[in-house]
Amino acid sequence: MLVKLAVLFSGNGSNLENILEKLHQKSIGANSYEVVLCLCNKKDALGIKRAKKYGLKSVIVEHKNFATREDFDRVLVEEIQKSGADLTILAGFMRILSPVFTKNIKAINLHPSLLPLFKGAKAIKESYESDMQVAGVSVHWVSEELDGGKIIAQKAFEKKKLSFEEFEEKIHSLEHEILPLSVIEIFS
Ligand code: GRF
Repeated sequence: MLVKLAVLFSGNGSNLENILEKLHQKSIGANSYEVVLCLCNKKDALGIKRAKKYGLKSVIVEHKNFATREDFDRVLVEEIQKSGADLTILAGFMRILSPVFTKNIKAINLHPSLLPLFKGAKAIKESYESDMQVAGVSVHWVSEELDGGKIIAQKAFEKKKLSFEEFEEKIHSLEHEILPLSVIEIFS
């Protein structure tokens, strides 16, 4: 089947670019993949430039222009439904989503910790600073609970004596492995 993907991001967009590089307009197994929507809530996000390299114009929906979370989410839902996406990928999309979104959109989220540990926006720092000897990344279904839906895939590594920069780099390299593989897995 042709799998249509929507990718939502807020900033750097390295995971968006990784999805574009590994899945966009590629045939893998019985499926081919097309990113039909890149959507960002910040007009200056680097990810917008990354999408442009692939000929894709990002839709910008700035959350600050909306009075409520629900009003913002309604526009996200409209844009995603209009795009015809089969799956929405939250790749560094730094917004808490209301039931307006979660009840209407089939979405997965990438999170830089071994969930259910270290939910929220400070996951990398908290996981680095914790006494745990392992750390990792997770992909999960998006539910009403922040970083709380059913886990699809995880990858762990030993922290050893990594500096914070090395640790962050390891997290991002594992994210780049796990996210496209999870998408492929979902449709296979
Ligand atoms: C990633 O660490 C992801 O897990 C988190 O936000 C970061 C996004 O990075 N939710 P990028 O914008 O894809 O480079």
